[in-house]
Amino acid sequence: MTMIDPFGRSIDYLRVSVTDRCDFRCTYCMAEDMVFLPKKDLLSLEELERLCTVFIEKGVKKLRLTGGEPLVRKNVMHLVRQVSRHLETGALEELTFTTNGSQLARFASELADCGVKRINVSLDTLDPEKFRAITRWGDLGKVIAGIDAAQAAGIKVKINAVALKDFNDAEIPGIMRWAHGRGMDMTVIETMPMGDIEGDRTDQYLPLSLLRGKLERDFTLTDIPFKTGGPARYVTVAETGGRLGFITPMTHNFCESCNRVRITCTGTLYMCLGQDDAADLRGPLRASEGNELLSRAIDEAIGRKPKGHDFVIDRRTNRPSVSRHMSVTGG
Ligand code: 5AD
Ligand code: SF4
Repeated sequence: MTMIDPFGRSIDYLRVSVTDRCDFRCTYCMAEDMVFLPKKDLLSLEELERLCTVFIEKGVKKLRLTGGEPLVRKNVMHLVRQVSRHLETGALEELTFTTNGSQLARFASELADCGVKRINVSLDTLDPEKFRAITRWGDLGKVIAGIDAAQAAGIKVKINAVALKDFNDAEIPGIMRWAHGRGMDMTVIETMPMGDIEGDRTDQYLPLSLLRGKLERDFTLTDIPFKTGGPARYVTVAETGGRLGFITPMTHNFCESCNRVRITCTGTLYMCLGQDDAADLRGPLRASEGNELLSRAIDEAIGRKPKGHDFVIDRRTNRPSVSRHMSVTGG
């Protein structure tokens, strides 16, 4: 069974934001005084599990739990254990996380026991003070300890860094050497105009074509067809022997090969990260014990998955392209 959208793309990748809360307040992601969803609006862990199961029955092969910070959701490991049963049956091929790493030291070995083989850790700088500044609340030492624990548990870690002009552009080669030196792939991401933040996004935006040009002065980058199911385009770096991915939602249309949809912790299905159209799945989920209504609502939503986003960042369009923050749909 597979879900096919109107543009012929097979949808086999589901990203689930299990909470919109986070123990960090990254400046490009959130305002410091973020207002989170009322707890009563959240789907229970059992409801999230039911949703995941229905998507898996409909052909989802890869599931990523995100947030906010997924590991701050109370009892999240209960959900992970339930969902990991689908790995055992082979219905699901991969269960992964995107995390800020703050809680990883605590959860790494349990995640590995549940069959989690790869995770993405968001890390924009290796300078403890800059780390504190960009995350507002984060502690770099804890994140590094989390990465250590994940690697010790046999989980492959990929480092995700958002490229921010005049913040970490000069540091990216250093972060890459560090990541590759520890056997980790790294991906750089362009900032996307999602949700109100306190600053001006035009000041932060760095097109990755520029970054690539700079890197090529010191490194030999070779394009490779390597894919992990996401939108990154990878190169190998001869000098480090590692892989570097570029996620370029702003400068390239990365929508053509989009294979994913997202659900929020309140059961709203977003067919595109960069569009506001959404479908409520909480209603059909709660309306009956069987999954018939839910399944129909999903089909209907996939049937109107848009061709792509229309993100813009420039001085004239100085407002978010979509009003929700990344922490709602989890990147
Ligand atoms: N643009 C690009 N990436 C973002 N992230 C959060 N907000 C934005 C944004 N506006 C990143 C985080 C994390 C991933 C989930 O998304 O750094 O790596
Ligand atoms: Fe939290 Fe990730 Fe947003 Fe930072 S980018 S505030 S770690 S959700």
